Amino acid sequence: MATIENAHFTTLKGAYDTETMEATVKVRRFNPETGKSRFDTFIVTIPVTATVLDALDAIKDTCDGTLSYRKSCRMSVCGSCGMRVDGGAALACKVPMRKFVEAGHTITVSPMGNLPVIKDLVVDMTPFWDKIRAIKPYLDTKNADTPAKEWRINPADTALIHKESLCILCGCCVSECISMESDPDFLGPAALAKAYRFVGDARDKDTRERLRDLSGAHGIWDCTRCYFCNQRCPKGVDPRDAIAKLGAESFKEGFTSDAGAKHAKVFVDSTFKGGYLRETELVPKTIGPANAIKDIPFALQLARAGKVPNPLSPHKAKDNDEVKRLWKLLEKEAKGQPRRATAVHPDAVQEG
Ligand code: SF4
Ligand code: SF4
Ligand code: FES
Repeated sequence: MATIENAHFTTLKGAYDTETMEATVKVRRFNPETGKSRFDTFIVTIPVTATVLDALDAIKDTCDGTLSYRKSCRMSVCGSCGMRVDGGAALACKVPMRKFVEAGHTITVSPMGNLPVIKDLVVDMTPFWDKIRAIKPYLDTKNADTPAKEWRINPADTALIHKESLCILCGCCVSECISMESDPDFLGPAALAKAYRFVGDARDKDTRERLRDLSGAHGIWDCTRCYFCNQRCPKGVDPRDAIAKLGAESFKEGFTSDAGAKHAKVFVDSTFKGGYLRETELVPKTIGPANAIKDIPFALQLARAGKVPNPLSPHKAKDNDEVKRLWKLLEKEAKGQPRRATAVHPDAVQEG
């Protein structure tokens, strides 16, 4: 196949019974046979209402039939068309082209990150599905008192797991997760949001075991709280918020031995006591004094650069009452906040 560089294709100009525009799209190509990547630039005529997916369809129809990408529903429902548009993951069928054309901007379309590329914009979703499977993405009632009739969540509580239920498994969040970039075994935002969908459902009887597993290696505490998953999710699932809820539930169940959990606890305790984070306590209390000794050479380097506060006279707010009041208020609110959607046993539902 010849490389098409800045080719001008207008063959569809008369094909639309609507107003059209000319769009320039740069596409990252990957040839699995040679293992080589390159960028091709295409100019296509598309309706003014076209999305990025429509532009790719026009390229495939009129310029290069070998261009590979996934699609199905074309209406942000199936989750097939996840790809990077100008470096950030999005559903191609949800992004309108018009704003780019009007700004005179050439968009760059590339495959999602953190997943191996198979060809052009098609990624191998196997690692994604492996993680979804790992969190047991189904209600586990342990067969205890499972009613034969439909067993519903109390309608008033559905909001507690509503956002997590909206996930269409597109992988956009995973594409931009910085923790997965450094640790491919990290469960990641999609699987963890899915996990909360079941942890937050009172019909599930596996909560403790789920939280124990999720609090271990490559689990919730490996999230760096960058919030890119919330930013990129096209369905408003807000995976980072789900991870925070899993953290709170894990604490409640007493799963606090992971370094990440200890790290979070030092932040809370330290600011409660002094209104500031006591950095010198952070490392020993997170990884233990014995392991902290190994970090002494690094600490000395930091001290020489003036980056270690005096451990004997730590930062302390003049008046810490305000911080304590806030802390107590948040604690009270958290205690009063239901985290699990209760279930209505069908025997309690009046028929008709
Ligand atoms: S907030 Fe956590 S899970 Fe979400 S993208 Fe960042 S590191 Fe990944
Ligand atoms: S959480 Fe959002 S971005 Fe992640 S897979 Fe689900 S729908 Fe896609
Ligand atoms: S094609 Fe189904 S979400 Fe885009």
